[in-house]
Amino acid sequence: MRLSGRREFLRFLAASPLAASALAQDAPPITRAGDALSVSDFETLTGGKLPPAHLGYLMSGVDDDATLKRNREGFQHFQLRARRLVDVSKIDLRTEMFGVSWEAPIFLCPVGGQKMFHPEGEVAVARAAKAKKTTQILSTVSSAPVEQVAQALGRPLWYQMYMPTNWAGTEKMVRRAEAAGCPVLVWTVDLLGGRNTETAARMRRADTRNCAACHTDGVGSLKGRPMLDGIEGGINPPAANWTYLDRLRKLTKMKLIIKGIDTAEDARLCREHGADAVLVSNHGGRATETLRSTIESLAEVVDAVGSQIPVLVDSGFRRGTDIYKALALGARAVGIGRPYIYGLTAFGQEGVERVLDILQAELRRTMGQCGTPAIKDITRAAVRKSA
Ligand code: FNR
Repeated sequence: MRLSGRREFLRFLAASPLAASALAQDAPPITRAGDALSVSDFETLTGGKLPPAHLGYLMSGVDDDATLKRNREGFQHFQLRARRLVDVSKIDLRTEMFGVSWEAPIFLCPVGGQKMFHPEGEVAVARAAKAKKTTQILSTVSSAPVEQVAQALGRPLWYQMYMPTNWAGTEKMVRRAEAAGCPVLVWTVDLLGGRNTETAARMRRADTRNCAACHTDGVGSLKGRPMLDGIEGGINPPAANWTYLDRLRKLTKMKLIIKGIDTAEDARLCREHGADAVLVSNHGGRATETLRSTIESLAEVVDAVGSQIPVLVDSGFRRGTDIYKALALGARAVGIGRPYIYGLTAFGQEGVERVLDILQAELRRTMGQCGTPAIKDITRAAVRKSA
């Protein structure tokens, strides 16, 4: 293109994506949750709000963060197949899980120690989940006790268990979750072999604050975690095998979900050993290095057990289109971890609500644009995997 004169040049610049992004950078800063337009806006805000050690804990993967990155890259291998001239004047996001009707196929994953991101931590998240009628899963390493969060949520709270190393501890934890009214127990099985959160370790070193002022028993200590009160020994027994699942199945009538499943073989074993659902997850890239993204593992798990038990998925979901792809591949619902923590960090309860609103709106729009007005309309025909 030949550009003669300053006026043409300015016109060209104004029309180019470069200029658009420069203009976007000049936009006023986001000061209210309602100003944020995407999960990524909240992620940017989080960077400026947390000290390096806490930001590192949130953002870290393991080793070189390859699984973490792959979780995002994986979505690029799937493209949507949009159908036209379908009546999309009414979009219905409702789905069913364990006989309960959900407003939308999105839930909040367990994330430990949320008071490190906002003083109200898990309780602020519970208030947001209540307002948006969303399922919340409470972590074993929560900074608030299950009883308090269940009360703030005012709807059934799911409980995530890192299994204590001694069985008496497991019994105690399960009974406590039952007594708090939790209908579902989510056993996380992808951290039994240990992990190397290298990025987090590096960012901790860059933090010049005196961590001992808050972490009186040392960074990473499990002391002071309310759900581990009165439980002897550690968590995540490396000896755990499928007989542990049999034992757990006998211990409780709560619905049992196994979190951290990535293969057809394990999904079948979960079902055979009495699990009520599986959660395809790689812990947001925080557990095992160089795995596939979960969007890439999902189909084989759905093909193995999807007709018998619900398959849930998490790790790397940031857009309504990401969620849509998982639903098309057969997931019943999609979990988010970091996205709602970004919202919590930036604006507390309001931030979490806004993140949920954004993702629901994006999913709704995608459903409309693809000619699939109800969740049941979103089938494998709606997505294609590139070679
Ligand atoms: C987690 N996750 C997690 N999982 C779990 O079973 N118990 C836990 O206590 C935690 N804690 C935790 C802390 C932090 C800071 C993060 C980011 C994640 C994993 C979580 O439940 C979920 O699998 C991932 O967060 C999903 O990936 P995204 O959405 O964060 O990409």
